[in-house]
Amino acid sequence: MQIIRKIDPLRDALSALRQEKSRLGLVPTMGALHAGHMHLVETAMDQCDAVVVSIFVNPTQFGEGEDLDAYPRQEAADAALLEEAGVDLVWVPTVDQVYPEGFATNVSVSGVSTGLCGGSRPGHFDGVATVVAKLFNQIRPDAAFFGEKDYQQLAVIKRMARDLDFTHDIVGVLTVRDDDGLALSSRNAYLTPEQRGQAVALPDTMREASEAIVQGGDIAVILRDASEKLLASGFHKVDYFELRNAETLENMTFFDKPARLLAAAHIGTTRLIDNIAVS
Ligand code: PAJ
Repeated sequence: MQIIRKIDPLRDALSALRQEKSRLGLVPTMGALHAGHMHLVETAMDQCDAVVVSIFVNPTQFGEGEDLDAYPRQEAADAALLEEAGVDLVWVPTVDQVYPEGFATNVSVSGVSTGLCGGSRPGHFDGVATVVAKLFNQIRPDAAFFGEKDYQQLAVIKRMARDLDFTHDIVGVLTVRDDDGLALSSRNAYLTPEQRGQAVALPDTMREASEAIVQGGDIAVILRDASEKLLASGFHKVDYFELRNAETLENMTFFDKPARLLAAAHIGTTRLIDNIAVS
């Protein structure tokens, strides 16, 4: 497995890889890999002949006061996991390889970026779309793999790929959860044991709300009660708890199309997000 940090050796390694293997998969990550990331890697390995994983803690998608400096970095442990999984190449660019001096371009996807995490983290999806567009151009994969865990991010990337003529496949992969239902996240490492116990209220509340919506309950009441339940369970702030159209992410006041419940809430200093299908 090659670990590459500069763009010129990356191009050489990719052209060599392309000569031997026909379908190239890309899994973009910010490292601190867990079983959720590794499920994306395994899915990519199943569907492709060669797999590239990128590890880059992208500064432009973190807002002021967010956890850019504290974000867990553990490259040696990540590399060991990827090597064991049989990944061909790990792209770990330095910041200047992604954002050269004078960098002045911004990819901004309107519509699906509005509200939800786009509302509570202004500029976040511009940072995501810009770095993912760069990764697509640097690697030129045949398929790129993203988790449904970040459902709005997946929708933003699908929209960007259609709009900017990235013709490779964008593959969404199911969320991997701990035994009690909490979605795996690099940020779970910030939780104290007590907060980790309380955090399960997030998937529990989402599941209950989903069932109540399917049974025909009043959506506004269900969503308000769900936020209140989170606040009573140890979360101190709910950024959003919303029902959206599963495709367009437009707001839904009636459950008459495939829908998705999405939520973000803070526990201690940690912001957790989750989403589930309503069906
Ligand atoms: P990161 O948070 O490291 O996540 C990398 C990929 O792993 C994303 O596609 C995310 O949705 C997926 N993932 C995270 N937790 C998961 C889980 N429990 N189950 C399944 N998939 C999971 O998302 C990012 O990095 C960045 O925004 C990035 C796309 C790399 C751009 O910087």
